[in-house]
Amino acid sequence: MYTKQKIIVKKDEIPPMSMVEYYFPAQKPWERNPVLVVNYKGSFFAIEAFCSHGGLSLEEGFLTEDGRVVCPWHGSVFDVRTGRVVDGPAERDLRTYRVEVKGDEVIVYE
Ligand code: FES
Repeated sequence: MYTKQKIIVKKDEIPPMSMVEYYFPAQKPWERNPVLVVNYKGSFFAIEAFCSHGGLSLEEGFLTEDGRVVCPWHGSVFDVRTGRVVDGPAERDLRTYRVEVKGDEVIVYE
């Protein structure tokens, strides 16, 4: 049976205006879902880590001043707060994950 997981990371692992890819724990390695945790001007957000266009990692992309994640591969743009596609070629919005900040920790729920 599959149960939802969470990850806990230290806030200082993700400096302001940066994005770090993590994996939720799972019994089997291929069941681990990747998540991109983003520190946007001191607020934390979590979205799918792989672009909905080509399935490639967004971690090497960049975060804009107005809160958009730009895919480094073909330039799709997503809103970091909602996961919505702002510009293609991607057509599907990214899934978002619930984030809680407690003290110096960031908790992301699958
Ligand atoms: S893989 Fe992201 S735009 Fe193509």
